[in-house]
Amino acid sequence: MADWKNPPRLFIPGPVQVYDDVLRQLARPTLGHRGKEYTQLHGDTVDMLKKILFTEQNVFLSTSSASGIWEAAVRNCLAPDETLLATGCGAFSDKWASVARQCGTNVDELKVDWGKPILPEMIDEKLAAGKYAAMTLVHNETSTGLTNPIADISEMMKKKYPDVLVFVDSVSGMVGLPLKFDELGWDVAFASVQKAFAIPPGLAVAAVSSRALEKSKAVPNRGYYFNFELWAKSAEKSQTLVTPNIPHIMALNYQCEKLLKEGMENAWRRHKDMADFVRTWAKENFDLFCDEKYASNTLTTINNTKGINVAETISAIQQKHNTIFGNGYGKLKEQTFRIAHMGDITIHDLKDLLAWIEEEITRGN
Ligand SMILES: Cc1ncc(COP(=O)(O)O)c(C=O)c1O
Repeated sequence: MADWKNPPRLFIPGPVQVYDDVLRQLARPTLGHRGKEYTQLHGDTVDMLKKILFTEQNVFLSTSSASGIWEAAVRNCLAPDETLLATGCGAFSDKWASVARQCGTNVDELKVDWGKPILPEMIDEKLAAGKYAAMTLVHNETSTGLTNPIADISEMMKKKYPDVLVFVDSVSGMVGLPLKFDELGWDVAFASVQKAFAIPPGLAVAAVSSRALEKSKAVPNRGYYFNFELWAKSAEKSQTLVTPNIPHIMALNYQCEKLLKEGMENAWRRHKDMADFVRTWAKENFDLFCDEKYASNTLTTINNTKGINVAETISAIQQKHNTIFGNGYGKLKEQTFRIAHMGDITIHDLKDLLAWIEEEITRGN
């Protein structure tokens, strides 16, 4: 029976497994958020994040999950008469378009089938035909396990559409996949910490370009809680606009130290190694859902070619080993299943899970 006090080991694509050393950071005594100690924690954390994201521009901490930054990007950076091109290749990118509409933004969509990538030429064709102030892109589509070709897209954007702002959801990409914010020429990129940062949910990290921040100052009705200009004023003092979730920031500081010690190239390679391991297993036993060229290094979506009962397999493994992995997302439920390999877990952990799945298949689940 499910018992939140005896939680399962998590191989779902977020929240991911958080280890005890990280959890202990959340139990540190709290600080006054306008005091010198907090300022030190905040400043140090943001400095490390700038190195991790390869940016000299703004990095903000938001006491929200990532969906808050979906809203923040469009509400801060688009004037009422401007139009957003929203690219969609799965559940989360589609949802961002819908959220932008709910914020009153004029949205035009560029959609591909789930499991297919957004390619630079598709964006080029759309942008050439209309007038757009900004574009949304999901770096790593968690519903399908697909990584969009961000380097090629960014090259094309810088060359042909330097004035179009680029907003990127890197929720399940950041720190697991290569991301050099300034080099990519992006304007907003963000993640929540329950993915590759391997921290419990409740905090988001956002990089914002100087030009996006400048532009936002003239945009009306940006609201208060997610207002970039107000965030920047607080950030100048190494503070947040409102009382932040200090325990999460302590854990983030700890994880940033670990990442910088490891080196980002090594962290990205570690994720690729885990992905290669799971993909090899998936190809031997089932099939990959996405073209391998675009298959994500933070999670793998596996085509259920054997027609196993995914929900029952997950449930059996939970009962026997108190461990869960992900069913397919939305319309892909049972047709696919998802195994996350991001954060602090290792190939050793993944070996356990894959062996248990094999055991259930042999048993005829
Ligand atoms: C790609 C992507 N974008 C956005 C979200 C929403 O993030 P949050 O639940 O942290 O608001 C998720 C959540 O899984 C996601 O995977």
